[in-house]
Amino acid sequence: METKRFYITTPIYYPSGKLHIGHAYCTVATDAMARYKRLQGYEVMFLTGTDEHGQKIEDKAREAGVPPQQFVDSIVTAPGGVLDLWKLMNIRYDRFIRTTDGYHAAAIQKIFRKMYEKGDIYKGAYTGKYCKPCESFWTESQLKDGKCPDCGREVADAQEEAYFFRASRYADRVRDLLLNTDFLEPKSRVHEMVNNFIDCEGGLQDLCVSRTSFTWGVPVDFDPGHVVYVWLDALFNYMTALGYQNDTYNDLEKFWPADVHFVGKEIVRFHAIYWPAFLMSLDLPLPKKVYGHGWLNFNGDKMSKSKGNVVDPYLLSERYGVDALRFFVLRTFPFGSDGNFTNELLIQTINTDLANDLGNLVSRTAAMAEKYFGGTLPEDRRADPALDDALISLAGGLRSRYGGQMEKFQFQNALEEVFKVIARANKYIDENAPWALAKDMEANGVRLGTVLYNLLETVRICTVLLTPFMPESCEEIFAQIGAGADAQTWDSAARWGVLPAQVQVRKGKNLFPRIDMAKELAELERLQEAAKKAALPALEIEPPAAEQVDFDTFCKSDFRAVKVTDCQRVKKSDKLLKFTLDDGTGTPRQILSGIAKWYQPEDLIGKTLVAIVNLPPRKMMGQESQGMLLSAVHTEAGEEKLNLIVVDDAIPAGAKLC
Ligand code: ME8
Repeated sequence: METKRFYITTPIYYPSGKLHIGHAYCTVATDAMARYKRLQGYEVMFLTGTDEHGQKIEDKAREAGVPPQQFVDSIVTAPGGVLDLWKLMNIRYDRFIRTTDGYHAAAIQKIFRKMYEKGDIYKGAYTGKYCKPCESFWTESQLKDGKCPDCGREVADAQEEAYFFRASRYADRVRDLLLNTDFLEPKSRVHEMVNNFIDCEGGLQDLCVSRTSFTWGVPVDFDPGHVVYVWLDALFNYMTALGYQNDTYNDLEKFWPADVHFVGKEIVRFHAIYWPAFLMSLDLPLPKKVYGHGWLNFNGDKMSKSKGNVVDPYLLSERYGVDALRFFVLRTFPFGSDGNFTNELLIQTINTDLANDLGNLVSRTAAMAEKYFGGTLPEDRRADPALDDALISLAGGLRSRYGGQMEKFQFQNALEEVFKVIARANKYIDENAPWALAKDMEANGVRLGTVLYNLLETVRICTVLLTPFMPESCEEIFAQIGAGADAQTWDSAARWGVLPAQVQVRKGKNLFPRIDMAKELAELERLQEAAKKAALPALEIEPPAAEQVDFDTFCKSDFRAVKVTDCQRVKKSDKLLKFTLDDGTGTPRQILSGIAKWYQPEDLIGKTLVAIVNLPPRKMMGQESQGMLLSAVHTEAGEEKLNLIVVDDAIPAGAKLC
């Protein structure tokens, strides 16, 4: 029999900072899909990795004061890095590629040369706009409001000698691929691609595929000084990882063309236009599909480190378990569209689907099997078609409904099908009231055993189909309901009556404890705030002023030691304190200062401070302020701190400071 094979990939991630739940989203989806295909008996190749070249990485490494390789190593392989995150999220990839792996870099050089020799890469000069974070060149007409159309950030003028890929030569074939095949999904993304990049003014532009302005990349071997554009380098990972143009691997025939590339919506352009064009240039078979998924936003905003709204998968999985987190992202948001991650939605999903529906069904069923039968069901059965058939037929058809959705990458709908059956099973418990049957075991024992068996079978089928999403929890459920290896297979999920008649059930730990929403939300907010603060630089001090003052100007400022004789809050102001000061003249001086956030007025009385006393008086909240008190300011973990300059009490009020 011919082996069925399935090759699926995630994008390879930029190791420029910590990954967040948005990155984990695509990888969890890919993992669920890969596990689903393995369950069906496919030989699966699930590839993921890291995209380690480019100017962004070079800049970050410089900022960190380390060589680029050391910088990426510290993010990919160090504790808490990319590899650790995938371990935490229980991602079972088959291969991990780093674009700094020697075999890949050497293959990229060969690929570049081949395209050059074919005439599809030529030398020219580039003038345009460059978006550094996206590593993308744009023409003026492609900009959106003068900014990068992908990320909305500022772009800079750029000009350099560069090699170009003759994408224009493949415009018609790529258009045809997009419009007349199922290559790109969801379909909603097709017209955007064709209209904006192929049928736009000037048509599909040739792509600049080398850089001379930095060195962290694969060198063009026949033209030193040029490094290969990071996207050409990165896209070919999908093939070099199988052995294309290298001897490290030998799986190209087995797995190419890929069945599907999962990619985020902002990188669909590279995967749906340039990637097929590159492959056409090399006469290589095209991947069967590119699926552009949506973004996970947080409270309505795209997650990004600079906005400080990233959701930390470590924190969440520690609190709720990895399976709950994996489940949440795929159950709640349609894969093809954007989703809005909120803590509330996460807790609500865990409470509703996992604690109330699935968790309750498993624990009630196992508890009843133990309570009424000591954990081993009796052999005899008594069916009651009026009560049983609806459940059995719904559960019996589940695998096919679920499979239909999984094939379309509609994880949310596939899970919806499973949870319809779980809800039906919970209803079946109420309809059959096992506790009432148990009152007369002699008369109803066989029927009670049948009800419990039907419940166990339903749980079993649902659990088989939930395995790709929650592998560890499903293993625990199988153990609790006495399902052996033969009762966990894809095949068995379409059959009824697979568990042995005298199945042995063992109630185990509560899989998904209910969460107290209000308490947990407050705690999460506190933890996420603390994490945000911890990520900020510990201490920020304003850099010294660049502008110089001449000595005479400086000497004009009259600084005096002043003693606080009274200090009070200013009514109706959160900020101001009103000081009465002895400045040595014999006339009390009044100064208002916006420091109420940092000081209690009574703590300052008697202290000797420093004031500049020859500023023109000014009115604040209707009161006159005759000068300014000096203080030191800095920022600590994102918070502004202020300290008044307090001087030695031995300095008399009125003493001039110079
Ligand atoms: O794009 N929600 O790398 P990357 C959903 N190196 N997906 C998100 C997300 C969010 N909030 N934030 C990021 C690259 N992603 C390239 C790929 S492939 C040959 C090269 C997704 O680390 C994003 O959409 O910036 C992209 O698909 C993936 O994370 C990697 O992003």
